[in-house]
Amino acid sequence: MAILKAVRGTRDLLPPETALWNRVEATARAVFARYGFGEIRTPIFETTELFARGVGEETDIVSKEMYTWEDRGRADSDKGQSLTLRPENTAGVVRAYIEHKLADTGMLQKLFYIGPQFRRERPQRGRYRQFWQIGAEVLGPAWSGSDSALRDAEVLEMLATLLDELGIKGWRLALNSVGSSTDRPRYVAALREALAPVKHLMCEDNQRRAETNPLRVLDSKDPNDQEIINGLPKIADYLDDASREHFEQVKAALDACGVAYTVEPRLVRGLDYYTRTTFEFTVPDGSGLGTQNALLGGGRYDGLSEMLGGPKAPGIGFAIGEDRLILTLQAQAEAAAETKLDVFIAPMGVERNAEALRLAQELRRAGLSVEVGDGTFRLKKSFEAADKLARRMVILGEDELASGILTVKDFAAGEQSKVPRNELAEALRR
Ligand code: HAM
Repeated sequence: MAILKAVRGTRDLLPPETALWNRVEATARAVFARYGFGEIRTPIFETTELFARGVGEETDIVSKEMYTWEDRGRADSDKGQSLTLRPENTAGVVRAYIEHKLADTGMLQKLFYIGPQFRRERPQRGRYRQFWQIGAEVLGPAWSGSDSALRDAEVLEMLATLLDELGIKGWRLALNSVGSSTDRPRYVAALREALAPVKHLMCEDNQRRAETNPLRVLDSKDPNDQEIINGLPKIADYLDDASREHFEQVKAALDACGVAYTVEPRLVRGLDYYTRTTFEFTVPDGSGLGTQNALLGGGRYDGLSEMLGGPKAPGIGFAIGEDRLILTLQAQAEAAAETKLDVFIAPMGVERNAEALRLAQELRRAGLSVEVGDGTFRLKKSFEAADKLARRMVILGEDELASGILTVKDFAAGEQSKVPRNELAEALRR
Protein backbone atom coordinates (compact mmCIF):
# COMPACT_ATOMS: atom_id res chain seq x y z
CA MET A 1 0.00 0.00 0.00
CA ALA A 2 1.28 3.51 -0.78
CA ILE A 3 2.56 5.37 2.27
CA LEU A 4 0.51 8.46 3.11
CA LYS A 5 2.46 11.66 3.59
CA ALA A 6 1.81 15.20 4.80
CA VAL A 7 0.59 17.39 1.93
CA ARG A 8 3.27 19.30 -0.03
CA GLY A 9 4.10 22.59 1.69
CA THR A 10 2.83 21.38 5.09
CA ARG A 11 4.92 19.68 7.75
CA ASP A 12 4.83 18.02 11.14
CA LEU A 13 6.60 19.71 14.01
CA LEU A 14 8.12 17.17 16.36
CA PRO A 15 9.98 17.19 19.67
CA PRO A 16 12.59 18.34 20.47
CA GLU A 17 12.00 21.17 17.98
CA THR A 18 8.55 21.94 19.40
CA ALA A 19 10.24 22.90 22.69
CA LEU A 20 11.87 25.76 20.81
CA TRP A 21 8.49 26.77 19.31
CA ASN A 22 7.02 26.83 22.79
CA ARG A 23 9.89 28.90 24.15
CA VAL A 24 9.48 31.43 21.32
CA GLU A 25 5.73 31.66 21.93
CA ALA A 26 6.17 32.00 25.70
CA THR A 27 8.69 34.82 25.22
CA ALA A 28 6.36 36.57 22.74
CA ARG A 29 3.43 36.29 25.17
CA ALA A 30 5.53 37.67 28.04
CA VAL A 31 6.78 40.62 25.97
CA PHE A 32 3.27 41.39 24.60
CA ALA A 33 1.89 41.40 28.15
CA ARG A 34 4.45 44.03 29.19
CA TYR A 35 3.17 46.31 26.40
CA GLY A 36 -0.49 45.82 27.33
CA PHE A 37 -1.58 43.42 24.56
CA GLY A 38 -4.33 40.83 25.05
CA GLU A 39 -4.85 37.70 22.95
CA ILE A 40 -7.44 37.40 20.17
CA ARG A 41 -8.31 34.07 18.51
CA THR A 42 -10.22 34.37 15.26
CA PRO A 43 -11.42 31.50 13.02
CA ILE A 44 -9.02 29.80 10.61
CA PHE A 45 -11.51 30.25 7.77
CA GLU A 46 -13.50 33.31 6.81
CA THR A 47 -15.61 34.43 3.89
CA THR A 48 -13.57 34.89 0.71
CA GLU A 49 -14.96 38.40 0.40
CA LEU A 50 -13.15 39.49 3.57
CA PHE A 51 -9.74 38.90 1.98
CA ALA A 52 -10.80 40.16 -1.46
CA ARG A 53 -11.88 43.46 0.10
CA GLY A 54 -9.26 43.68 2.85
CA VAL A 55 -6.05 42.38 1.30
CA GLY A 56 -6.97 43.38 -2.28
CA GLU A 57 -8.11 41.49 -5.41
CA GLU A 58 -4.95 42.30 -7.35
CA THR A 59 -2.44 41.13 -4.74
CA ASP A 60 -0.58 37.85 -5.31
CA ILE A 61 -2.15 36.52 -2.12
CA VAL A 62 -5.74 36.95 -3.28
CA SER A 63 -5.28 36.41 -7.01
CA LYS A 64 -3.11 33.27 -6.82
CA GLU A 65 -2.47 31.88 -3.38
CA MET A 66 -5.69 31.36 -1.43
CA TYR A 67 -7.28 28.03 -0.54
CA THR A 68 -10.87 28.80 -1.46
CA TRP A 69 -13.85 26.52 -1.77
CA GLU A 70 -17.55 26.76 -2.33
CA ASP A 71 -19.22 25.64 0.89
CA ARG A 72 -22.53 23.96 0.15
CA GLY A 73 -25.64 24.97 2.04
CA ARG A 74 -27.00 22.20 4.33
CA ALA A 75 -30.52 22.41 3.01
CA ASP A 76 -31.80 23.31 -0.44
CA SER A 77 -33.03 26.57 1.03
CA ASP A 78 -29.54 27.40 2.39
CA LYS A 79 -27.34 29.38 0.08
CA GLY A 80 -23.78 28.13 -0.38
CA GLN A 81 -20.93 30.57 0.19
CA SER A 82 -17.34 30.99 -0.84
CA LEU A 83 -14.95 30.41 2.06
CA THR A 84 -11.17 30.73 2.36
CA LEU A 85 -8.49 29.46 4.72
CA ARG A 86 -6.99 32.64 6.13
CA PRO A 87 -3.83 33.70 4.27
CA GLU A 88 -3.15 36.35 6.95
CA ASN A 89 -4.88 37.55 10.09
CA THR A 90 -5.13 41.35 9.95
CA ALA A 91 -8.37 41.28 7.94
CA GLY A 92 -9.86 38.77 10.41
CA VAL A 93 -8.90 40.89 13.43
CA VAL A 94 -10.42 44.02 11.90
CA ARG A 95 -13.55 42.04 10.98
CA ALA A 96 -13.83 40.96 14.63
CA TYR A 97 -13.21 44.56 15.79
CA ILE A 98 -16.16 45.70 13.70
CA GLU A 99 -18.40 42.72 14.50
CA HIS A 100 -17.97 43.05 18.28
CA LYS A 101 -18.29 46.83 18.17
CA LEU A 102 -14.97 47.27 19.98
CA ALA A 103 -15.03 50.88 18.78
CA ASP A 104 -17.80 51.53 21.34
CA THR A 105 -15.34 51.03 24.19
CA GLY A 106 -13.60 54.19 22.93
CA MET A 107 -10.35 52.52 23.95
CA LEU A 108 -7.29 51.64 21.97
CA GLN A 109 -7.36 47.89 21.24
CA LYS A 110 -4.01 46.07 21.52
CA LEU A 111 -4.47 42.52 20.30
CA PHE A 112 -2.02 39.70 19.53
CA TYR A 113 -2.42 36.28 17.90
CA ILE A 114 -0.39 33.15 17.29
CA GLY A 115 -1.59 30.67 14.69
CA PRO A 116 -1.41 29.02 11.27
CA GLN A 117 -2.00 30.83 7.97
CA PHE A 118 -2.35 29.28 4.52
CA ARG A 119 -0.95 30.40 1.16
CA ARG A 120 -0.54 28.30 -1.95
CA GLU A 121 3.02 29.43 -2.67
CA ARG A 122 5.84 27.38 -4.19
CA PRO A 123 7.28 25.60 -1.15
CA GLN A 124 10.95 26.12 -0.34
CA ARG A 125 13.10 26.66 2.76
CA GLY A 126 11.29 29.23 4.91
CA ARG A 127 8.20 29.20 2.68
CA TYR A 128 5.36 26.80 3.35
CA ARG A 129 1.71 26.45 2.42
CA GLN A 130 0.74 26.19 6.08
CA PHE A 131 2.94 28.48 8.15
CA TRP A 132 2.65 30.15 11.55
CA GLN A 133 2.45 33.81 12.34
CA ILE A 134 2.92 35.62 15.64
CA GLY A 135 1.23 38.94 15.06
CA ALA A 136 -0.27 41.95 16.78
CA GLU A 137 -2.59 44.81 15.88
CA VAL A 138 -3.19 48.18 17.56
CA LEU A 139 -6.37 49.92 16.46
CA GLY A 140 -9.19 52.10 17.66
CA PRO A 141 -11.08 55.31 16.99
CA ALA A 142 -8.79 58.23 16.12
CA TRP A 143 -9.56 59.86 19.51
CA SER A 144 -7.96 56.87 21.25
CA GLY A 145 -4.65 57.93 19.72
CA SER A 146 -4.59 55.03 17.25
CA ASP A 147 -3.24 57.17 14.42
CA SER A 148 -0.39 58.63 16.49
CA ALA A 149 3.19 58.07 15.33
CA LEU A 150 3.89 57.09 18.95
CA ARG A 151 2.01 53.81 18.29
CA ASP A 152 4.13 53.01 15.23
CA ALA A 153 7.31 53.59 17.20
CA GLU A 154 6.02 51.60 20.20
CA VAL A 155 5.22 48.60 18.00
CA LEU A 156 8.65 48.77 16.33
CA GLU A 157 10.46 49.19 19.65
CA MET A 158 8.50 46.19 21.04
CA LEU A 159 9.66 44.10 18.06
CA ALA A 160 13.29 45.13 18.63
CA THR A 161 12.93 44.11 22.29
CA LEU A 162 11.31 40.78 21.38
CA LEU A 163 13.96 39.86 18.79
CA ASP A 164 16.72 40.79 21.24
CA GLU A 165 15.13 38.74 24.04
CA LEU A 166 14.80 35.76 21.71
CA GLY A 167 18.49 36.08 20.86
CA ILE A 168 18.10 36.87 17.13
CA LYS A 169 21.39 38.35 15.97
CA GLY A 170 22.03 40.94 13.26
CA TRP A 171 18.41 41.89 12.49
CA ARG A 172 17.78 44.95 10.34
CA LEU A 173 14.70 47.15 10.26
CA ALA A 174 13.69 48.55 6.86
CA LEU A 175 11.19 51.41 7.09
CA ASN A 176 9.13 53.43 4.64
CA SER A 177 5.99 55.52 4.37
CA VAL A 178 3.54 54.74 1.56
CA GLY A 179 1.45 57.84 2.31
CA SER A 180 -2.20 58.36 3.07
CA SER A 181 -5.17 57.35 0.96
CA THR A 182 -5.01 60.77 -0.72
CA ASP A 183 -1.23 60.62 -1.41
CA ARG A 184 -1.49 57.20 -2.91
CA PRO A 185 -3.61 57.95 -6.01
CA ARG A 186 -1.25 60.79 -6.97
CA TYR A 187 1.72 58.47 -6.67
CA VAL A 188 -0.01 55.63 -8.52
CA ALA A 189 -0.84 58.04 -11.36
CA ALA A 190 2.83 59.06 -11.54
CA LEU A 191 3.90 55.41 -11.57
CA ARG A 192 1.46 54.64 -14.38
CA GLU A 193 2.82 57.51 -16.40
CA ALA A 194 6.44 56.43 -15.84
CA LEU A 195 5.63 52.80 -16.67
CA ALA A 196 3.67 53.49 -19.86
CA PRO A 197 6.66 53.89 -22.22
CA VAL A 198 8.71 51.02 -20.69
CA LYS A 199 6.26 48.39 -19.53
CA HIS A 200 6.49 46.38 -22.79
CA LEU A 201 10.13 45.65 -21.81
CA MET A 202 9.05 44.03 -18.53
CA CYS A 203 7.97 40.48 -17.62
CA GLU A 204 4.39 39.46 -18.28
CA ASP A 205 3.36 39.77 -14.62
CA ASN A 206 4.72 43.30 -14.40
CA GLN A 207 3.03 44.30 -17.66
CA ARG A 208 -0.26 43.24 -16.13
CA ARG A 209 0.49 44.92 -12.80
CA ALA A 210 1.46 48.15 -14.58
CA GLU A 211 -2.14 48.25 -15.77
CA THR A 212 -4.07 46.92 -12.79
CA ASN A 213 -2.00 47.82 -9.70
CA PRO A 214 1.27 49.64 -10.48
CA LEU A 215 2.37 49.64 -6.80
CA ARG A 216 2.81 45.88 -7.03
CA VAL A 217 5.50 46.39 -9.70
CA LEU A 218 7.73 47.81 -6.95
CA ASP A 219 7.87 44.55 -5.01
CA SER A 220 8.61 42.47 -8.11
CA LYS A 221 11.73 40.34 -7.66
CA ASP A 222 12.23 39.78 -11.42
CA PRO A 223 15.99 40.44 -11.93
CA ASN A 224 15.56 41.70 -15.52
CA ASP A 225 13.13 44.41 -14.45
CA GLN A 226 15.16 45.86 -11.57
CA GLU A 227 16.84 48.58 -13.61
CA ILE A 228 13.50 49.97 -14.77
CA ILE A 229 12.06 49.65 -11.25
CA ASN A 230 15.01 51.53 -9.71
CA GLY A 231 14.33 54.43 -12.05
CA LEU A 232 10.62 54.78 -11.14
CA PRO A 233 9.37 57.74 -9.08
CA LYS A 234 9.76 57.44 -5.30
CA ILE A 235 6.74 57.60 -2.99
CA ALA A 236 8.60 59.93 -0.61
CA ASP A 237 8.26 62.70 -3.22
CA TYR A 238 4.47 62.34 -3.21
CA LEU A 239 3.72 62.46 0.53
CA ASP A 240 1.60 65.39 1.69
CA ASP A 241 2.73 67.47 4.67
CA ALA A 242 0.72 65.48 7.23
CA SER A 243 2.14 62.11 6.08
CA ARG A 244 5.67 63.51 5.93
CA GLU A 245 5.31 64.92 9.45
CA HIS A 246 3.93 61.58 10.70
CA PHE A 247 6.92 59.73 9.24
CA GLU A 248 9.35 62.24 10.79
CA GLN A 249 7.70 61.65 14.19
CA VAL A 250 8.04 57.87 13.86
CA LYS A 251 11.73 58.21 13.03
CA ALA A 252 12.36 60.70 15.86
CA ALA A 253 10.72 58.37 18.42
CA LEU A 254 12.79 55.42 17.16
CA ASP A 255 15.94 57.56 17.42
CA ALA A 256 14.96 58.45 21.00
CA CYS A 257 14.62 54.74 21.85
CA GLY A 258 17.86 53.82 20.08
CA VAL A 259 16.15 51.49 17.57
CA ALA A 260 18.24 51.47 14.35
CA TYR A 261 16.49 51.49 10.95
CA THR A 262 17.14 52.13 7.27
CA VAL A 263 14.64 54.00 5.11
CA GLU A 264 13.86 51.87 2.01
CA PRO A 265 11.89 53.97 -0.49
CA ARG A 266 10.68 50.88 -2.40
CA LEU A 267 9.22 49.03 0.57
CA VAL A 268 5.50 49.13 -0.32
CA ARG A 269 4.65 45.54 0.79
CA GLY A 270 2.37 43.07 -0.94
CA LEU A 271 -1.00 43.88 0.65
CA ASP A 272 -3.27 46.72 -0.46
CA TYR A 273 -4.43 47.94 2.96
CA TYR A 274 -1.22 49.72 3.95
CA THR A 275 -1.09 53.48 4.51
CA ARG A 276 1.80 55.57 5.84
CA THR A 277 4.33 53.48 7.83
CA THR A 278 5.42 50.13 6.36
CA PHE A 279 8.30 48.00 7.63
CA GLU A 280 10.12 44.70 7.43
CA PHE A 281 12.72 43.08 9.67
CA THR A 282 15.31 40.96 7.87
CA VAL A 283 18.22 38.82 9.03
CA PRO A 284 21.66 38.58 7.36
CA ASP A 285 22.41 35.96 4.68
CA GLY A 286 23.50 32.72 6.27
CA SER A 287 20.82 32.90 8.97
CA GLY A 288 19.08 29.79 7.67
CA LEU A 289 16.37 31.39 5.53
CA GLY A 290 17.90 31.05 2.06
CA THR A 291 16.32 33.71 -0.14
CA GLN A 292 13.38 34.25 2.25
CA ASN A 293 15.12 36.76 4.49
CA ALA A 294 12.02 38.68 5.66
CA LEU A 295 11.48 37.59 9.23
CA LEU A 296 8.43 39.75 9.70
CA GLY A 297 6.49 42.55 8.08
CA GLY A 298 3.81 45.04 8.89
CA GLY A 299 2.55 48.56 8.71
CA ARG A 300 -0.27 50.99 9.21
CA TYR A 301 -3.76 50.43 7.71
CA ASP A 302 -5.76 53.55 8.50
CA GLY A 303 -8.55 52.80 5.99
CA LEU A 304 -9.00 49.03 6.42
CA SER A 305 -11.93 49.13 8.82
CA GLU A 306 -13.87 51.39 6.45
CA MET A 307 -12.96 49.14 3.49
CA LEU A 308 -14.69 46.34 5.43
CA GLY A 309 -17.78 48.45 6.18
CA GLY A 310 -16.76 49.46 9.72
CA PRO A 311 -16.19 52.81 11.44
CA LYS A 312 -13.01 54.77 10.96
CA ALA A 313 -10.37 52.89 12.97
CA PRO A 314 -6.74 53.69 12.17
CA GLY A 315 -4.37 50.88 13.10
CA ILE A 316 -0.91 49.42 12.84
CA GLY A 317 0.38 45.88 13.21
CA PHE A 318 2.82 43.22 12.16
CA ALA A 319 3.17 39.49 11.67
CA ILE A 320 6.31 37.50 12.38
CA GLY A 321 6.87 34.36 10.28
CA GLU A 322 7.31 31.94 13.18
CA ASP A 323 8.74 29.19 10.95
CA ARG A 324 11.39 31.66 9.78
CA LEU A 325 12.11 32.82 13.32
CA ILE A 326 12.74 29.21 14.37
CA LEU A 327 14.99 28.51 11.35
CA THR A 328 16.99 31.61 12.20
CA LEU A 329 17.38 30.65 15.86
CA GLN A 330 18.48 27.16 14.86
CA ALA A 331 20.97 28.49 12.31
CA GLN A 332 22.27 31.02 14.80
CA ALA A 333 22.68 28.03 17.17
CA GLU A 334 21.14 29.61 20.22
CA ALA A 335 18.86 27.00 21.58
CA ALA A 336 20.58 23.61 21.36
CA ALA A 337 21.20 22.87 25.04
CA GLU A 338 17.81 23.92 26.27
CA THR A 339 15.88 20.89 25.12
CA LYS A 340 17.63 18.55 27.63
CA LEU A 341 15.72 17.27 30.62
CA ASP A 342 16.90 17.87 34.18
CA VAL A 343 17.45 14.22 34.99
CA PHE A 344 17.26 10.62 33.77
CA ILE A 345 16.50 7.93 36.36
CA ALA A 346 18.15 4.57 35.72
CA PRO A 347 16.59 1.69 37.70
CA MET A 348 18.95 -1.27 38.10
CA GLY A 349 16.74 -4.33 37.54
CA VAL A 350 13.04 -4.64 36.73
CA GLU A 351 12.14 -4.92 40.42
CA ARG A 352 13.32 -1.28 40.81
CA ASN A 353 10.94 0.06 38.08
CA ALA A 354 8.06 0.91 40.40
CA GLU A 355 10.39 2.73 42.80
CA ALA A 356 11.93 4.61 39.84
CA LEU A 357 8.50 5.80 38.77
CA ARG A 358 7.78 6.91 42.33
CA LEU A 359 11.04 8.90 42.46
CA ALA A 360 10.16 10.44 39.05
CA GLN A 361 6.74 11.43 40.43
CA GLU A 362 8.40 13.09 43.43
CA LEU A 363 10.85 15.05 41.28
CA ARG A 364 8.27 16.02 38.65
CA ARG A 365 5.98 17.32 41.39
CA ALA A 366 8.95 19.35 42.61
CA GLY A 367 9.02 20.97 39.14
CA LEU A 368 11.88 19.04 37.53
CA SER A 369 11.76 17.47 34.05
CA VAL A 370 12.43 13.75 34.28
CA GLU A 371 12.73 10.68 32.03
CA VAL A 372 12.74 7.16 33.42
CA GLY A 373 14.80 4.32 31.91
CA ASP A 374 13.90 0.68 32.35
CA GLY A 375 15.20 -2.00 34.71
CA THR A 376 16.00 -4.28 31.77
CA PHE A 377 18.67 -1.82 30.53
CA ARG A 378 22.30 -2.60 31.25
CA LEU A 379 24.20 0.26 32.92
CA LYS A 380 25.95 1.14 29.63
CA LYS A 381 22.67 1.47 27.77
CA SER A 382 21.23 3.64 30.57
CA PHE A 383 24.28 5.90 30.33
CA GLU A 384 23.89 6.30 26.58
CA ALA A 385 20.17 7.02 26.74
CA ALA A 386 20.62 9.44 29.64
CA ASP A 387 23.44 11.34 27.93
CA LYS A 388 21.22 11.98 24.88
CA LEU A 389 18.17 13.09 26.83
CA ALA A 390 19.20 14.71 30.08
CA ARG A 391 21.84 16.77 31.81
CA ARG A 392 22.18 14.30 34.68
CA MET A 393 21.49 10.68 35.57
CA VAL A 394 20.43 9.18 38.89
CA ILE A 395 21.20 5.51 39.47
CA LEU A 396 18.63 3.57 41.45
CA GLY A 397 20.00 0.20 42.60
CA GLU A 398 19.49 -2.03 45.63
CA ASP A 399 22.24 -0.30 47.65
CA GLU A 400 20.91 3.18 46.83
CA LEU A 401 17.40 2.23 47.91
CA ALA A 402 18.62 0.62 51.13
CA SER A 403 20.90 3.52 52.14
CA GLY A 404 18.76 6.41 50.76
CA ILE A 405 21.97 7.86 49.25
CA LEU A 406 21.72 8.19 45.47
CA THR A 407 24.47 8.45 42.86
CA VAL A 408 24.11 11.44 40.53
CA LYS A 409 26.15 11.69 37.36
CA ASP A 410 26.50 15.19 35.84
CA PHE A 411 27.33 14.82 32.13
CA ALA A 412 28.55 18.36 31.39
CA ALA A 413 30.79 18.50 34.46
CA GLY A 414 31.86 14.86 34.04
CA GLU A 415 31.37 14.40 37.80
CA GLN A 416 29.65 11.83 39.99
CA SER A 417 28.37 12.63 43.48
CA LYS A 418 26.38 11.04 46.32
CA VAL A 419 23.20 12.84 47.38
CA PRO A 420 20.71 11.90 50.15
CA ARG A 421 17.31 11.22 48.63
CA ASN A 422 15.55 13.98 50.58
CA GLU A 423 18.01 16.54 49.20
CA LEU A 424 17.84 15.27 45.61
CA ALA A 425 15.30 17.73 44.17
CA GLU A 426 17.23 20.64 45.66
CA ALA A 427 20.56 19.35 44.34
CA LEU A 428 19.14 18.78 40.83
CA ARG A 429 17.72 22.26 40.70
CA ARG A 430 21.17 23.83 41.18
P1 HAM B 1 3.13 39.38 5.25
O1 HAM B 1 4.36 40.17 4.93
O2 HAM B 1 2.36 38.84 4.13
O3 HAM B 1 2.24 40.31 6.18
O4 HAM B 1 3.56 38.19 6.20
C1 HAM B 1 4.27 38.43 7.39
C2 HAM B 1 5.39 37.40 7.57
O5 HAM B 1 4.84 36.09 7.50
C3 HAM B 1 6.46 37.42 6.50
O6 HAM B 1 7.43 38.42 6.74
C4 HAM B 1 7.04 36.04 6.62
O7 HAM B 1 7.99 35.98 7.67
C5 HAM B 1 5.83 35.20 7.01
N1 HAM B 1 5.33 34.46 5.84
C6 HAM B 1 4.55 34.91 4.85
N2 HAM B 1 4.29 33.93 3.95
C7 HAM B 1 4.94 32.83 4.39
C8 HAM B 1 5.07 31.49 3.93
N3 HAM B 1 4.47 31.06 2.82
N4 HAM B 1 5.82 30.62 4.65
C9 HAM B 1 6.44 31.02 5.80
N5 HAM B 1 6.34 32.27 6.29
C10 HAM B 1 5.61 33.17 5.60
C11 HAM B 1 1.04 39.93 6.72
O8 HAM B 1 0.63 38.80 6.74
C12 HAM B 1 0.32 41.07 7.41
N6 HAM B 1 -0.97 40.56 7.92
C13 HAM B 1 1.16 41.63 8.53
C14 HAM B 1 0.48 42.76 9.22
C15 HAM B 1 -0.16 42.72 10.41
N7 HAM B 1 0.37 43.99 8.77
C16 HAM B 1 -0.33 44.72 9.62
N8 HAM B 1 -0.66 43.94 10.63
